[in-house]
Amino acid sequence: MRHLLDTRTLDRTSALRILDVAEDMADTQSRENKKLPTLRGKTVVNLFFEDSTRTRISFEAAAKRLSADVINFAAKGSSVSKGESLKDTAQTLQAMGADAVVIRHHASGAPRTLATSGWITAGVVNAGDGTHEHPTQALLDAFTIRKRRFGAGSRGRDLSGVRVVIVGDVLHSRVARSNVWLLTTLGAEVTLVSPPTLVPQNVSQWPVRVLYDLDEALAHGPDAVMMLRIQLERMNAAYFPSEREYSRRWGLDAVRAATLPSDSIVMHPGPMNRGLEISAEAADSPRSTVLEQVTNGVSVRMAVLYLLLAGEREDERGEGS
Ligand code: CP
Repeated sequence: MRHLLDTRTLDRTSALRILDVAEDMADTQSRENKKLPTLRGKTVVNLFFEDSTRTRISFEAAAKRLSADVINFAAKGSSVSKGESLKDTAQTLQAMGADAVVIRHHASGAPRTLATSGWITAGVVNAGDGTHEHPTQALLDAFTIRKRRFGAGSRGRDLSGVRVVIVGDVLHSRVARSNVWLLTTLGAEVTLVSPPTLVPQNVSQWPVRVLYDLDEALAHGPDAVMMLRIQLERMNAAYFPSEREYSRRWGLDAVRAATLPSDSIVMHPGPMNRGLEISAEAADSPRSTVLEQVTNGVSVRMAVLYLLLAGEREDERGEGS
């Protein structure tokens, strides 16, 4: 794998390879919680132009557990505020020895530009770009669903027959987009539930069913319900019902969660708006996988960095995305 830019072009074999290597990483970590020497001598740069807690720290932990050196770059407080371009910033970091660049950027397509422009030779991982994609979030979500559904026998399996409902602000969500492509590539049935104003215009071209009524979607007994963060910072008043109405019609509370089959899981990528898209009771309930997703994220990102920097040489011709 040369880069990981999206899940839309990630094929089933490559996706399963990442999930299976992540299983190996998780097993190794649970057996002997110590560093692997695999990426000794490699340098991973976390290049973050937008805020992050989970993704940035998770990539840092993943790289360190594989013995790579890590350089963390945040646009705030850097020469970006003096007008330095993405090209000059990336080339400066490559001159310090970056082998892989993990980039989060407010502009959709910035990771692909970095990977294909010839500005740098490092492998590029998309850690979230605008409203486009967040591929490692979708991979850790798929990993979590697979592990919960199939337990110890999950290695090598796809998600055929698994039913996932994704609820909320689909319009602004790169998490929703990456999950739609990845989960359907892996054979899952995906239903989106959203207020009509928060559904993207081109959704008819997506391999999903769209509903506007959350209770109708939950009545089908999905295996996983993934609540999306309402992105108030990207919201136009024209799109959004009042917070009270949103919470009443599209929020997941304990009463709604209780209508689900006993083995259904409740997911959220974080950060959560407690009391808006998800109640505290639902977020903290035994069926919630919110913290499990965070833990799994480290294993998945270890797998991605491993396949990018130490994976099979024959894979290097492909983009992996
Ligand atoms: N889920 C996610 O991307 O969280 P952060 O913004 O904290 O990285």
